[in-house]
Amino acid sequence: MGKGIFITGTGTDIGKTYVAALLIKKMRDMGMNTGYYKGVLSGAKNISESDAGYVNDLAQIGQEPETLVSYLYKDAVSPHLASKLKGNPVELNQIKRDFIHVSEKYDYVVVEGSGGIVCPIRYDDEAHIFLEDIIKNLELDTLIVANAGLGTINAVVLTVEYMRQKNIGIKGIIMNHYTGTILQKDNIKMIEALTGLTVISLVAPNDEELTIDPTMLSEIFKEK
Ligand SMILES: Nc1ncnc2c1ncn2[C@@H]1O[C@H](COP(=O)(O)OP(=O)(O)OP(=O)(O)O)[C@@H](O)[C@H]1O
Ligand SMILES: [Mg+2]
Repeated sequence: MGKGIFITGTGTDIGKTYVAALLIKKMRDMGMNTGYYKGVLSGAKNISESDAGYVNDLAQIGQEPETLVSYLYKDAVSPHLASKLKGNPVELNQIKRDFIHVSEKYDYVVVEGSGGIVCPIRYDDEAHIFLEDIIKNLELDTLIVANAGLGTINAVVLTVEYMRQKNIGIKGIIMNHYTGTILQKDNIKMIEALTGLTVISLVAPNDEELTIDPTMLSEIFKEK
């Protein structure tokens, strides 16, 4: 099976897709055969117009579209509500099978999470599934994408503390929308001090390439 990393963030719209696309592009440029997978996606008409389609195009993966996502809900609401409204609730086994299928084809798989870390995926009489259950089911470590600006210390520390409580491995933090202000530089220092984690990459507005130390990159995919 290939090696995977799970990209989560401090919230929805934080830049998980944007960063995942740049990460995969970088890895592929370095000769690493990398694919993408997102278990559950909501708020898109179809795969080509979704996060997955964007990543597939930008990183020029050429992946078969139906292998990119397992569950797509058109309503722009949390997956647990989307499946309550329209049916087709998430099954963890299906996600596992589909992830394995992608990881058989690619040496590395970058997996994107839905929303932030507390994201209800399914909440009905039969099952209560949260994003953390998907991460554990796929046995993956994570990267956290966070905004570089004001409010990020609180959001990152809460996310990290929650994930540690759930025994989820964190390989590092990527700061998005970074422009290099004093506040942003201090945020990085504070976050590293308060979490003991490393900020492994800084992504500026409209960046077309991910700047990351190759050693950091190999660290991300190192076996536990
Ligand atoms: N560094 C950046 N420069 C320019 N635009 C960005 C950057 N990061 C994110 N965006 C834009 O912000 C929006 C939200 O980003 P993105 O879709 O990556 O968030 P997300 O965390 O994947 O959201 P979701 O929870 O819906 O999956 C998108 O329109 C994206 O193109
Ligand atoms: Mg996304």
